[in-house]
This record gives sequence, structure tokens and C-alpha cells, in this order.
Amino acid sequence: MQPLLSGFSRSLLQNKVGFVTGAGSPYGIGRSLVLGLAAAGARAVYATDLSLGNIASLQEEVRAMKSDCQVHGAILDVTDEKQTISVLKEVLDKYGRMDFYFANAGVGNYVPLQNTDAAYYDKMISIMQRSFFLALRYGGQAMCNVSADKPSPGGSIVVTSSIAGVSGGISDISYSSAKAAVANMVKPGSVQLAASNIRVNSIAPGFVRSSIIASTRQALANMQSSANTGGTSTNKTITKEEASKAFDATLGRLASDKYYFDRIPEPEEIASIGVFLASELSASVNGQNIVADNGKTASGQADRTIGPIHAMAPLSALG
Ligand SMILES: NC(=O)c1ccc[n+]([C@@H]2O[C@H](COP(=O)([O-])OP(=O)(O)OC[C@H]3O[C@@H](n4cnc5c(N)ncnc54)[C@H](O)[C@@H]3O)[C@@H](O)[C@H]2O)c1
Repeated sequence: MQPLLSGFSRSLLQNKVGFVTGAGSPYGIGRSLVLGLAAAGARAVYATDLSLGNIASLQEEVRAMKSDCQVHGAILDVTDEKQTISVLKEVLDKYGRMDFYFANAGVGNYVPLQNTDAAYYDKMISIMQRSFFLALRYGGQAMCNVSADKPSPGGSIVVTSSIAGVSGGISDISYSSAKAAVANMVKPGSVQLAASNIRVNSIAPGFVRSSIIASTRQALANMQSSANTGGTSTNKTITKEEASKAFDATLGRLASDKYYFDRIPEPEEIASIGVFLASELSASVNGQNIVADNGKTASGQADRTIGPIHAMAPLSALG
């Protein structure tokens, strides 16, 4: 269990039920969210993805925390409206309530403009933006189901955006467009769901160590073949070693210890914000995009403009 996530009180999300999309990679924000939600006392979390090969080890990790949280694996292609409704119904049939929905699945891609076409653009928008519409539309409605256990509507919907939606220059056009769109959709989303006691927020991470490079390759290959077969699930399972190797060879090379804004954090640093947003600790936070990038976007051109940034001398060393 990741140390940062072990700090939550188990009463924080007591009795709460919900789901996380993109939770099937061996190492990433979705998986850490499931661990964090379990650590904060959630009753059940549906860990959904295109592949369930890593869910058994996730369930094992949750059991090792001595948590009572039930982690269910469920195949869910977030572009599929019917499947989204069907998994939500499964949650409601089993637990009679839906309290949190993390629209987290995504693919991180950089394809030069001249190598893209409208079909590629539509696919990216469907995975990362249209899926959030489905989360608001149907996840919001599921949060309005009440029972003896949950006497009034309510919940928290959280989407994973990116600093690509803020700065634009670190990904291709489709990714930046989708991430900027979802960060803005939280505003009308929070208004439309305000009468139902449902909060809607976004987290915009900078670069984060995860399986994103390996899982993107797999998701795109899978979508290619599923276009032919009509299926969306895959039996292929990425290992943590494969994921780390792919990350280190690409985004990992950007990491540096020199300045705080150049660090690349672990996924639990993003998941801990997600647990906060799912809980009443964030009761007054609504319709917001929380940028979690170590100050990268705030740094602008940083030392390329102002020269080296020197560490402060300790106070005691001052004359
Ligand atoms: N890692 C980063 O540097 C970074 C930075 C900013 C934002 N993000 C965002 O964080 C989110 C989580 O990514 P991560 O970095 O933890 O990587 P990850 O690979 O661990 O998780 C992404 C998951 O999404 C799944 N997925 C892809 N297409 C899907 C589909 N159609 N239906 C269902 N699941 C699908 C993948 O199979 C994968 O398991 C993504 O939305 C990503 O864009 C990541």
C-alpha cells in the first residue's frame, strides 16, 4: 500500500460506493484511486477498464490493507454508452447506491498533425471527452437513486484532465482539446447537478509516473481490432515492469531533481486529491479544475528566461 494513501481515516468514505474508470493498468492513477478509496473506508469500488488482468493483484493489495472494501472488476469501454449504463445498473442492483464516479480512463498520445485524420480525432475525443459527458449524464442520474441506506441524492463526479488542457503544447491537438474541454465541462456539470447535491470537479495532473505509454499502445491496438470484431475487452495484460520500461524510455526522461516543478510524481499523489474530492473534506469545492503539476505551468519559461534559480540560504546563515 502506498504510504501517502495510508493516512486517510476509514470513516471518510464509510458506506460509499462508486467506480473508477481506467483502473486496470498495473500502475497508474486509476489503480491508486481504488487503493485510496479503499483506504478511506469505501464500501465498494468498481475498478473498470478494457482489461481485467491486473484486478486480482489490486484486490489482493486491498485485502492486504485489512480493508473491508469490495473491489469488483468490470469491463467498461468508456466510449460505449450502453456499457456505461449497464455497469451503473450493476452497481445499483448490488448496492442500491452510487456515490462517486471517477472518469479517469485516457490515452496519452502525441501524433504529428499530418499523421492524423478526423477518425483519429473523433476517437480521442470519444475516449476522453464524450466519456465524461456519459459520466455526468448517467453517473449523475445513478447518484439520484435513493434507498433506505441513502435517503437523498448526492455524490461526487471527478474527471482526470491534464495540464495539456491548460498549456496545450505537450501533446497532440485531440488530447489537449479533450482535456481542456473536460476541465470546462465541470462548470455547467456542477450547475446542472446542483439540485441533486452532486459536486463535479476535475484534476489536471502534470506528468505522472504511470502505465500511460504502454496502456495507450495497447488501447489503440485493441480499438483497431475491436473495430473489426465489435468487442472491446482484451485478454492482454501489461505488467508493471513493461509499463515502467515504456515510461522511463519516454516521459520519464523529462524528470529532473533540479527544480521542484521538474519532478515527476507517483500516481498516489493524484489519487489522494481524488479521495479528498470524493469526501466531505471538499464539501465546498465544486465546478473546479485543480491543477496538480508541481508548479510546472506556473513556472512558464522558468530558468530559460530568468537564468538559474538558486536555492535560498538558511535563515540562520543570514548576517
Ligand atoms: N501519466 C501522466 O503523465 C498523465 C498526465 C496528465 C493526465 N493524465 C491522465 O490520467 C488518466 C489516467 O492515466 P494514467 O497516467 O494513470 O495511465 P494508465 O495507463 O495507468 O491508465 C489509463 C487507463 O485507461 C484505460 N483506457 C484507455 N482507453 C480506454 C477506454 N476506451 N475505455 C476504458 N479504459 C480505457 C487504459 O487501459 C489504462 O488502464 C488519463 O486520463 C490520462 O490522460 C496522465
